[in-house]
Amino acid sequence: METGLKHFHSYWAYLVLLTLLIAVVNAIIGLAGNKTFTSRDRFLALFALIAAHTQLLIGLVLYFVSPLGARNLSNMGEAMKNPGLRLYVVEHPLVNIIAIVLITIGYSRAKRLPTDNSKFKTLTIMYLIALVLLLSRIPWNAWRS
Ligand code: HEM
Repeated sequence: METGLKHFHSYWAYLVLLTLLIAVVNAIIGLAGNKTFTSRDRFLALFALIAAHTQLLIGLVLYFVSPLGARNLSNMGEAMKNPGLRLYVVEHPLVNIIAIVLITIGYSRAKRLPTDNSKFKTLTIMYLIALVLLLSRIPWNAWRS
């Protein structure tokens, strides 16, 4: 099960990053061009939100079955001293959860804001910060190698 989940998490990461990038570029274009916020714009933001939430669920399960996850919490001192392990045990899960919270806040705030411009602006800021956070904590060396 662990291998299957790991592969799923690994492939799904492409979808998360791609949908997030599309949503950010779309929001920037909407903001810069003073465009009307349509259901297409909402759908692109929603698609990225769903992809990220799905990845969060898979990641949480993976965290409890992977040798690189929660079982290292009992020896936190050692895990923190080892940069490779610290990335999996602490940084990757924590920073990615923060990124997904930002996506969630950005999406729900944009839905409630009154003007098209403020919707695009909120999505640009929150989704862009989330994308940078996600990219900063991907285990690049291990991914697809
Ligand atoms: C949108 C958020 C996330 C993205 C884009 C993402 C992406 C990735 C990628 C690309 C890998 C490397 C896979 C490989 O070696 O081929 C990975 C590994 C891992 N991720 Fe995530 N992840 C996310 C969220 C999370 C969360 C929230 C958790 C835990 C709560 C988590 C737990 C793990 C674990 C434990 C591994 C190591 C699996 C192993 O090699 O045994 N991930 N993640």
